[in-house]
Amino acid sequence: MNNFLNRLRPKRWAEGAVVYQIYPRSFQDSNGDGVGDLQGIIERLDYLQDLGITAVWLSPFYPSPMADFGYDVMDYCDVDPLFGTLADFKQLLRAAHKRNIKIMVDIVPNHTSDEHPWFEASRQSRTGKYADWYIWHDPSGYSNDTPLPPNNWLDMFSGGSAWEWSETRKQFYLHSFHVKQPDLNWENPAVQEAMKNVLRFWLDLGVDGFRIDAVPFMAKDPSFTNNPQDPAYTPGQTSPVWKYKRINSQGWPRHFEYLDNMSKVLTERRYRHHPRFMVTEGYVERHNAVENYMDYYRGMDPSVATPFIFEGIEESLGAQTWRKFLHDLHAALDGHNPASLPAYAFGNHDQHRIVTRFGAERARSVAVLQLTLPGVTFIYNGEELGMHNVSVPPEKTQDPQAIAGDGRDPERTPMQWSSELGAGFTDGEPWLPLAHDYRLHNAATQANDSTSFLSLYHALIHLRTKTPAFKNGAFRLLFDTDPQILAYERTSRKSRYAVIINFKDDTNSFSLDHPGTIIVSSIDGSVEKAVKRGDLHLRSHEAIVIKYTRLVKKS
Ligand code: GLC
Repeated sequence: MNNFLNRLRPKRWAEGAVVYQIYPRSFQDSNGDGVGDLQGIIERLDYLQDLGITAVWLSPFYPSPMADFGYDVMDYCDVDPLFGTLADFKQLLRAAHKRNIKIMVDIVPNHTSDEHPWFEASRQSRTGKYADWYIWHDPSGYSNDTPLPPNNWLDMFSGGSAWEWSETRKQFYLHSFHVKQPDLNWENPAVQEAMKNVLRFWLDLGVDGFRIDAVPFMAKDPSFTNNPQDPAYTPGQTSPVWKYKRINSQGWPRHFEYLDNMSKVLTERRYRHHPRFMVTEGYVERHNAVENYMDYYRGMDPSVATPFIFEGIEESLGAQTWRKFLHDLHAALDGHNPASLPAYAFGNHDQHRIVTRFGAERARSVAVLQLTLPGVTFIYNGEELGMHNVSVPPEKTQDPQAIAGDGRDPERTPMQWSSELGAGFTDGEPWLPLAHDYRLHNAATQANDSTSFLSLYHALIHLRTKTPAFKNGAFRLLFDTDPQILAYERTSRKSRYAVIINFKDDTNSFSLDHPGTIIVSSIDGSVEKAVKRGDLHLRSHEAIVIKYTRLVKKS
C-alpha cells in the first residue's frame, strides 16, 4: 500500500489540490443587501490567491426560490439575480483562472425546485414530454377521502412524509428533501440526458469541475417498498428524520451508473484538452464504511471522479480510528486502481464548525491532518479563521432543516473579514447574524498574527501545494507509536517529511528515527526548530510536520 500514490501519474489538477468551498450567501456582499454575491467573490480573489488554494467550489448560485438556499434549482444554466448575472459568473471564472484558481460548480441532480419549468409541466398532466421526469405515484388508499401516501418514506428536513399530493395531477410526488424539492426520475433516460447537457453547458463556459449533490438519493427501490423501523431511533431524542432505516428510499446501486455516465461527459472528446474533475456527496452507511466508499471508486471512472471521504465529519477524532481507517482505505484503493484519489472534507455548509465540534486546539491539529493527507482536500469558508457555530435565535432562523431540530444556520453565518461594522461582509443587515466576537477574530486581525488560525492554514496550504512530497508523494503510516499518536510520512524523490499528531489531552512523546526540522506546529504555526534523533515531545493535541535532514531510505 505504501507506494500507491507513487504510481499515480495523471496530470489531474485535483491531485494534492486544496479546494475552498464558498457558500455564496455568506462570503462577501458587494451591493449592501446583506447577502453575498458573485461580485463579492471577485473582490476576495486576492485573499484566496494569497491563501494559496488551488480551486474554489461554489455552492449553488442558480435561480431559485431559496426554499433550501439554492439547492432548489429553477434553472441549472443561469445565475439568480440575488447573486448577479451569468456575465458576472464569466468574469469570476476569468479572474480566477488568471490567478490560477480553478472553479468547480455545484450540480444538484436529485431534485429541482417545484418552480422549475420541468416540474411545472410534469405536474400539469400524466401525459406529455415531462410527465415521467419526476417520481409520481398513486395513493396507497384513502382515509375519509384523504389520499394516503404510497409508503412510509420520510423527507430529510421535516421528518414528515416524503410524498406530497398534487390536486392537479391527482397523484403524489416524491421529495426526499423539502416539499419544494421534487425528486427527478433518474430511471428516465431523458432526465439523464438533460443533466448531462447541464454539465456540458458549464464545461463549455470553462469550469474545471463539479461537486455533485446528495448522490445516494438518485436511486431508490423501484417498487417503493416501505423502509424498516430503525431500532436505534428514540422519539424525542433522535430527529424524526431517522425513524426508519433509509434502505429503500436511497442508495440503490443504479446511482453509480448514473454518476459514471455523468463523469463520462468530462472526458468527451471536446473536453479532453482541459482536465476536469468531479466529487460526489454521499454520506455512506457507517457499517463497513471503507467498502461503501469503495463502491463509488468501483462505480465511477477514478481518473475524473471521486467520492467525498467524510470520516472527519462522521467519526470521532482519535489516533486509532484514523490509523485504521487510513490503513484500510489506502490498502483498498491501492488494490483497486492507483489512479483513485481520496477527497477529504472535515466540514461544509451542512456540518457544525470544526472548532465547535472539537475545540480550538484539536481543530488546529485537524488542519495539519487534513492538509498533509494524500489526495484532494476541501476547506469550507471560514474554517481557516477558526470560525465557530453562531447561535441563531428562532426569529432569525432560515434553514428549513431547523424544523426537525438540527438547523444548519449556525455554520452558515457570514465571513468575518474585519473589525468594521458588518465585519467587512456587508454594509447592510447580514442575512444571518455575525458571530458576537467577530471584532476580535477576523481575517484582518489574524493576518498579522503568526500564531493565528489563518497563519497556520496559510503555512499548511503553501506547504501542501508547493512540496512534491505532499502534493503527490508516497504516503506511509507509522505503526510503532503510542496509541494516542497518529504518525505518517510523505516522501518524494528528493525529500521526506513526517507528520506526527498527538491526540492526547496531555504531553506525549514520539521516538524519532532521524534528525530533522520541525517546520509547522499546530500550536505555534510556522517554525524552524531542529530536532535530533530520539524522543520528541509533543504538547497536548499538538500536531507537527518535520522535514528530515537527509533523504533517508527506509525498508
Ligand atoms: C446536500 C446539500 C445540502 C442540501 C441537500 C439537498 O446535502 O449539501 O445543503 O440541503 O443536499 O439538496
